[in-house]
Amino acid sequence: MTAEQNLERIVAAHYDRDDLFAAIESALAAMGKSMAALKPGDLAAVDEFHIGGRPATIHFADRLGFAPGAHLLDIGCGIGGASRYFTAERGCHVTGIDLTEGYCDVARRLADLVGLSARTDYRQASALDLPFDAAAFDGAYMLHVGMNIADKDRLYREVRRVLKPGAVFGIYDVLQGPGGAPYFPVPWAAGAETSFLITAEALQDLLRRSGFEIAGIEDRSAFGMATFETMRQRIAGKGGPSPLGLHLLMGKDAPVKIANMIRSLQERRIAPTEVIARAV
Ligand SMILES: C[S@@+](CC[C@H](N)C(=O)[O-])C[C@H]1O[C@@H](n2cnc3c(N)ncnc32)[C@H](O)[C@@H]1O
Repeated sequence: MTAEQNLERIVAAHYDRDDLFAAIESALAAMGKSMAALKPGDLAAVDEFHIGGRPATIHFADRLGFAPGAHLLDIGCGIGGASRYFTAERGCHVTGIDLTEGYCDVARRLADLVGLSARTDYRQASALDLPFDAAAFDGAYMLHVGMNIADKDRLYREVRRVLKPGAVFGIYDVLQGPGGAPYFPVPWAAGAETSFLITAEALQDLLRRSGFEIAGIEDRSAFGMATFETMRQRIAGKGGPSPLGLHLLMGKDAPVKIANMIRSLQERRIAPTEVIARAV
């Protein structure tokens, strides 16, 4: 096994959860949701695994401006919240790939549950070895994935390969802030051996060298802080978290992962950042 394959094995094991679909179904049932009448947005508390959740995806989508009918690639799609948003709300077709087979399976079953199977598909694959022809996609995006990928040079070249010239590529990732390394564990990694943060400057340089031009960049740290504060107030007001939430994806140590992420954000160790690039 190569070092890269070993890293991918550890990363997939970090995310994989037994019986995740059943846990989501139970949480929905506990909330009194009818499976037959479920809408894509009803899943947003659990299927948007990035800082700011669904509101962050909406902000990102507004910046990306993908046209209805565009065929998009979602790199590291997780259980598919953003893919279903771009399909249901923006009229796109989305192919999602993810390293974690269990996530692809849950993504497929959730898409089926909300009637979006015809316009989404999900495949287990590595972002470093995309199983697609050159220039296959009209656009691509990646939400909170690059943190797990060491070989970023190969990552962005591979994304560029599968995009048509002029296609937009959006990234919303956790970047390295000026405050030092993050506290571990965080939601994306148990420790430093699977976390590879780079600065906004380094990311832009890499993208340019990989055949992209930079169309926009926005530090979303203030938004991230405001989101966590709103979440804290909501949980305190309701007397506890909702049954449907990211704790289903993060496992038993979810509270410590979230606390470390908030502290890292406060100390500017991490900077959630949107970058909009265009394939040249
Ligand atoms: C924090 S989750 C974000 C999931 C999703 N993008 C979202 O926002 O809901 C990170 C995801 O990246 C995937 N991932 C990490 N490294 C990857 C790689 N090399 N290739 C494909 N997927 C990867 C993980 O399996 C995981 O599903």
